[in-house]
Amino acid sequence: MKNTDHKKEKEFIPALSYNFLTGLYDTTIRLTMPEKKFRSELIDRIKPEPHEQIFEFGFGTGANLAIASSRSPNSSIFGLDIDPKVREIAFSKLKDKDILVELQLYNGGIFPYDDAVFDKAYSCLVFHQLDDETKAHCFSEIYRVLKPGGKLIIGDWGKAKNRWMRTVFYTVQLLDGFKTTTANVKGLLPD
Ligand SMILES: C[S@@+](CC[C@H](N)C(=O)[O-])C[C@H]1O[C@@H](n2cnc3c(N)ncnc32)[C@H](O)[C@@H]1O
Repeated sequence: MKNTDHKKEKEFIPALSYNFLTGLYDTTIRLTMPEKKFRSELIDRIKPEPHEQIFEFGFGTGANLAIASSRSPNSSIFGLDIDPKVREIAFSKLKDKDILVELQLYNGGIFPYDDAVFDKAYSCLVFHQLDDETKAHCFSEIYRVLKPGGKLIIGDWGKAKNRWMRTVFYTVQLLDGFKTTTANVKGLLPD
């Protein structure tokens, strides 16, 4: 494993925008989004296979890790996040389900992994919380830790298909801010 650089901690947007709301993240997602559907579609696309090394960037409260791990108990699954508070929640959730996943924290710098170690990487609802410079840094770190020919799957808000979805994402922008979310509104993330 690589050492993270221990420079000044990077500022970040917590899971539900404010630190004091993090404990409500799971309930909020369950009540306001088609959670089962989008998480299941995400894991379908990842298709975790036995003996693969799989990495979730920004694991949050561990919901995707739990599904990925139960779909493929013989894959090795790793998670990285910046927020100790979500790690605590994910840790106890996964422990209750007897799921073994390595949950790591970092300070926003170099990822704590060697080059070319993962077969697949995925990230869900994280990139709309990163400013452009951080997006570029994280993409380049993900690229570094993926094996050549490795696969990256990103689930996040795209360009709204209708007024209703644009209004819904506008409320996300009011919470998370406009700096990190404008690329999503314009549909630029895939590029
Ligand atoms: C909206 S939550 C999504 C959590 C989870 N992936 C899910 O699908 O529910 C965004 C997550 O990204 C994490 N995050 C924010 N900035 C980050 C950064 N620079 N590096 C890594 N994780 C970050 C937050 O701590 C939070 O856990």
